[in-house]
Amino acid sequence: MSSKVRVGLLGLGTVGRSVFDTLSANHELISARAGADVEVAAVAVKSLDHDWGIDRSLLTDDALGLASDPSIDVVVEVMGGENPAGDCIRASLSRGASAVSANKELIAKQIASLVSLAQENGADFRFEAAVGGGIPILQPLQHQLGSNRFIELKGILNGTTNHILTEMRTRGISFDEALDEAQDLGYAEADPTADVDGWDALYKITILSSLITGQQVSIDSASLNGIRGIALAEIEAAEAKGERLKLIASAQFGDAPEISVSVQSLPHEHPLAAISGATNALWIQADPLGEVTLSGPGAGGGPTAAAVVGDIVEAVRCRNMGTVSPPWPISS
Ligand SMILES: NC(=O)c1ccc[n+]([C@@H]2O[C@H](COP(=O)([O-])OP(=O)(O)OC[C@H]3O[C@@H](n4cnc5c(N)ncnc54)[C@H](OP(=O)(O)O)[C@@H]3O)[C@@H](O)[C@H]2O)c1
Repeated sequence: MSSKVRVGLLGLGTVGRSVFDTLSANHELISARAGADVEVAAVAVKSLDHDWGIDRSLLTDDALGLASDPSIDVVVEVMGGENPAGDCIRASLSRGASAVSANKELIAKQIASLVSLAQENGADFRFEAAVGGGIPILQPLQHQLGSNRFIELKGILNGTTNHILTEMRTRGISFDEALDEAQDLGYAEADPTADVDGWDALYKITILSSLITGQQVSIDSASLNGIRGIALAEIEAAEAKGERLKLIASAQFGDAPEISVSVQSLPHEHPLAAISGATNALWIQADPLGEVTLSGPGAGGGPTAAAVVGDIVEAVRCRNMGTVSPPWPISS
């Protein structure tokens, strides 16, 4: 294998560390599949004083400088937040480099402009991990399911809230107890707002809806209600009727898409009713397909890194063939 591909990794947190480890542990098979020697050439971290446990010569505290470095072929943004993550992705795409990101917030808010920038510059831009973590969703949607008219999506797209609802239902505990436990176990952040108030699920359904409609869907157009303060009695009352309460991110594609995140009561027979714990799932209704449900691990370092590294492999394969495989076009 003659060619070398230099990866610049921005962020060495939960996902970044797993991406680094996966690229090291599976270096041979990844390089064989990608058709090039895929190496991590540099890693951007916030502080160079910390012992990161990797070769110090790889480290920089200048994420934007790394994204702009012409010797870097593939920029992998796993820092999170809107900035400097957005500037770094734009710097990569503007110079024609491939960019891979897991950043659901940034992509939900700026998908149209980022995809357009990639297209203008003939650059590859991939973000499979931003929706459903390790579950293949965005690529199957745009390829194998690409002939369909999408009618409706319903997703359990946040593992933390599904875990909390599952613990409340199966163990008869309150929302506050379940949240405390989820925080102790590391399932929920110290500030659980993004999960329990539904923002995380909203970002993901917004990305899906923007891809499907070909228009930037505004997160402000959605109706948003999370699970904060949900009572055990509500869960038990639903169960008594043969229904199960789930935090559902949904999109209906009529004349204008209707997007919402809310607690819905699903019949026990619905495929999403059986999704328990931190597992995520997306139920899709489309014509002529009918219904399909994709499920699996929606978060965590390993599953998310699997999706990120899968994107890297595909980006390198495209580079080798002198092509790109852009997301569906999206106007702003
Ligand atoms: N964790 C998951 O299961 C999961 C799943 C799907 C998608 N994602 C997405 O993946 C991204 C990363 O998530 P994560 O869980 O890995 O977050 P994380 O553990 O907080 O890691 C992010 C890392 O990036 C660093 N960072 C922030 N700004 C930086 C900068 N300017 N230069 C260099 N490093 C910087 C952070 O440093 P400090 O800690 O010092 O701020 C932190 O070490 C997010 O967009 C998230 O939404 C995560």
